[in-house]
Amino acid sequence: MYRTHTCGELTAKNIDHVVTLSGWIQKMRKLGGMTFIDIRDRYGITQLVFDEAQNPELCRKADELGREFVIKVTGKIIERSNKNKKIPTGDIEILVSELLVLSKSEIPPFTIEEETDGGDELRMKYRYLDLRRNPVKRNIELRHRMAREVRNYLDLLQFVEIETPVLIKSTPEGARDFVVPSRMNQGEFYALPQSPQVFKQLLMISGFDRYYQIVKCFRDEDLRADRQPEFTQIDCEMSFVGQDDVLAIFEEMTKHLFKQVKDIQLNHNFPKISYEQAMHEYGTDKPDIRFEMKINELTDIAKGKDFNVFNNAEYIGAICACGCAEYSRKQLDALTKFVQKPQIGAKGLVYIKLNEDGSIKSSINKFYTSYELQKWAEILNAQKGDLILILAGEKENTLNALSELRLEMGERLGLRNKNRFTPLWIVDFPLLEWDEETGRFYAMHHPFTMPKKEDMHLLDTEPAKVRANAYDLVINGIEIGGGSLRIYDTDMQKNMFKYLGFTQAEADEQFGFLMDAFKYGAPPHGGIALGFDRLVSLFAGLDSIRDVIAFPKNNSGRDVMIDSPSAVSEEQLKELNLKVIYNPKPNKI
Ligand code: AMO
Repeated sequence: MYRTHTCGELTAKNIDHVVTLSGWIQKMRKLGGMTFIDIRDRYGITQLVFDEAQNPELCRKADELGREFVIKVTGKIIERSNKNKKIPTGDIEILVSELLVLSKSEIPPFTIEEETDGGDELRMKYRYLDLRRNPVKRNIELRHRMAREVRNYLDLLQFVEIETPVLIKSTPEGARDFVVPSRMNQGEFYALPQSPQVFKQLLMISGFDRYYQIVKCFRDEDLRADRQPEFTQIDCEMSFVGQDDVLAIFEEMTKHLFKQVKDIQLNHNFPKISYEQAMHEYGTDKPDIRFEMKINELTDIAKGKDFNVFNNAEYIGAICACGCAEYSRKQLDALTKFVQKPQIGAKGLVYIKLNEDGSIKSSINKFYTSYELQKWAEILNAQKGDLILILAGEKENTLNALSELRLEMGERLGLRNKNRFTPLWIVDFPLLEWDEETGRFYAMHHPFTMPKKEDMHLLDTEPAKVRANAYDLVINGIEIGGGSLRIYDTDMQKNMFKYLGFTQAEADEQFGFLMDAFKYGAPPHGGIALGFDRLVSLFAGLDSIRDVIAFPKNNSGRDVMIDSPSAVSEEQLKELNLKVIYNPKPNKI
């Protein structure tokens, strides 16, 4: 028998019992004739003691051990003289009478403790060691608990978990596909699913009116803290539902998770705001509403004086940072630098300080009177002591920059408390978005999304104005999920492909099977997918989804532990009838 107990469960109640534990050596220290060893497993840490006076032979054996050795010990539980109140087993220790080394360890490349000296790349290279560390392990366990609660909730509502294939044909979710060459069908490729979108729709046609799947999805896109090339969705689809039915079920699921996993009761209904309102007030379709600081437009009121930056701008907008009128030159310069960062792209920053003594100081005093600036302050509902920050330029970019500035000020003012959660729905997304580069419309969500009935008549004349039955779940400024009601009619789907620039032949080639399926009785249906990694990292209070994935990729899409992607052998290439033409890294195999 390897163990009678885990390393996390023995307390003073067990004193005098003889137990056997197995685990890893966390740390060792010698104190006179005693050797103390902390032994660790998934459940906790227990102190072992080897007494030279009682058993010199065993004590000598213990001295030969090292960090991360795997050992099995048997001994009697005794009361500790020097108690450790920080851990549940801190009142006791085990006076070891038998020791067996199950496995030796080299000195690990970083210390395996709460805080570690290992940098990111090193920890990723030895991820199996990193996963021994408590904070990382806790995230993985949290992920498991959340998956279990999702299944519990959906199971009660008659959802059926159905697996869908991974070797498929391209699904248009807006990213590049990962492709896999087929040996049996030379010259042809599978695509890995960006989502199970078409399969879940086909399942509705099959009559499985409530489907879900906790499923891996694959997207070849630029990586960020909240994006991995392979990630997990809680993917769902329902038949005979309207938008409100879908939102109600997944709002309840979100509340269920908060209650069961974090013991947070979210009582109110999640607010619903339109895409248009979100862009107008927050400059983004994923607003962080833990704090107000809404954007106000000043385009009309601020134009017409000698200040050409404003006169030439398509859009002028401002936010009010409460209590920041005392910001120093240095702080304002730092903010200017912040908005000028290439990824934010503002040219400059204009400020107005509403001083406590009633005076107004601004970077544009030359062009505007205090009276005029006071009028702007009224629009922003700004008070004495507040700081108004203004950006101007092309509308979309300026709104985006204001959104980033708003988040930065929220951060600086401590308004983005990680333990407060403010979910909301963004609804009424535009159906299509225009792409300057390619000069054509793309589906904002995906091509299967149903336009709003009342906007259908605009499809031919003003397509950009057509809204969709599409919605996103946003929590604390993070896009957690997105979904839509779907088109379930062959002709409408054909038309949609036409609006998206597909020729009839292309549409048939790629999605003929779906349009065929619609011919055999398709129920009205809709669904949603939540980014599971994002949800777990939000619950864990983390900034990156990497920390909640057991074996994540780095920012270049590499798994540095298994060294992937990597070259394949000449033989494999031959079997696939493939030739690598450009290969900056010569084939190592
Ligand atoms: P969408 O493309 O909005 O919708 O994706 C749903 C959610 O998945 C998460 N997500 C990601 N998480 C980590 N890394 C990524 N690279 C990544 N990409 C997306 C986000 C996002 O909100 N088939 C539709 C859903 C539907 O219409 O039902 C879909 O995939 O949290």
